[in-house]
Amino acid sequence: MQPPKVTVLGSANVDLVIRAERMPNRGETLIGETFDIFTGGKGFNQATAAARLGAQVTLIGRIGDDPFADILRTAIDAENINSQYVKTDAESGTGIATIVVQPDGENSIIVIPRANMRLTPKDIEDAAESIAKADVLLLQLETPIDASQKAIEIARINNTNVVLDPAPARQLPSSILSHVNILKPNEIEATVLSGVEVTSPETAITAAKALRAKIAPDRLSAVVITLGEQGVLLCTHKECTHIPAISVDVVDTTGAGDAFSGALATALAKGSELMDAVKYAAAAGAAATTVLGATPSMPTQEKIKSILLGK
Ligand code: RIB
Repeated sequence: MQPPKVTVLGSANVDLVIRAERMPNRGETLIGETFDIFTGGKGFNQATAAARLGAQVTLIGRIGDDPFADILRTAIDAENINSQYVKTDAESGTGIATIVVQPDGENSIIVIPRANMRLTPKDIEDAAESIAKADVLLLQLETPIDASQKAIEIARINNTNVVLDPAPARQLPSSILSHVNILKPNEIEATVLSGVEVTSPETAITAAKALRAKIAPDRLSAVVITLGEQGVLLCTHKECTHIPAISVDVVDTTGAGDAFSGALATALAKGSELMDAVKYAAAAGAAATTVLGATPSMPTQEKIKSILLGK
C-alpha cells in the first residue's frame, strides 16, 4: 500500500531553548538552568510528526544560507522529508526562535522568521505538483499569507484536503477560511479568529460554531480547538464533541500543537474518521509534552500507542 502523502507549507527554524525557574521581570537579569539548540519551526515540526507517523512528506519553505540552515538540512534529510521545495535564500538568514521553558513545561517564544517570511507565491507555483498529488496540505501562519493563499487555491482545484493550524494567532480573510477543510486553532487563536474569548470547553463551542460557518462545508470539514489541560473540542457541521485531555508528566509544551497537527493530517491522509483522527492527534500532542525541545518531541507510532494505553 502507498503511504499517505502530506505536503507541509511552513516555517523551519532553529530553536534556542533556555530552561529557567521563571521568566525574568522587566530590567531583571536571571540565571537560567540549561541551554540547548534544537530544530523547530511549526512547519518543520509538523512535517517531522507526519513523517515519523508514516506519511510521505514534502516540505515547502525557505531557509537561509548560513550554519543554521545546515543544521536544518541535516535534520530534514534525517527524517526522510522531501526538501526539493525548501529553497535556500542567500539574502536572508534562517529563521530563529528563542524559547524559555518554565518548570511546569509552559513556554514563551519569540520568533524571528527571516527567510521564512520571504516565501513567495512563485515558490508555491514551483511546488504545485506536490500539493496537487498530496492527500492533505497542512499549513500554519509563520510564512506569508499570499503564499498560503496560492497553496490553498492549488489544493482546492486538485481536491487535496486542507488542514490549517492558524498559529501564530492572526485574523484571516474569508478567501482563506472558506477553502479550509479542517481549522485547528488553540484557545488563543480561536479567540482572535472568532472574537469569542475561549477559556473553557463551553466558550470553545461558541467560538467553534462561529468559525464553522466560515470554513468549507464539505464532507470532511471541522473546527478542532485544542484547549491544553482542558482537552480538545471537535465541531463538525453536525455536532460538537469534547474530548478530555490525556494526563502525562509534562516536561515542555513546545511543539505539542505541532505534534497534534502533524498527526491529525497524517491520520486524515490515511483515511481515518474525524473522531479517531482527533483522538490520535490528542495522544500525539500529549506525547510531545513529555520531551524537551520541539522537533525532538515529535512522537513515533509506538510512543502514541503507549500514551493511548496509559503506559
Ligand atoms: O510550535 C513551536 C515552534 O514555534 C517552535 O519550534 C518555534 O520554532 C516556533 O516556530
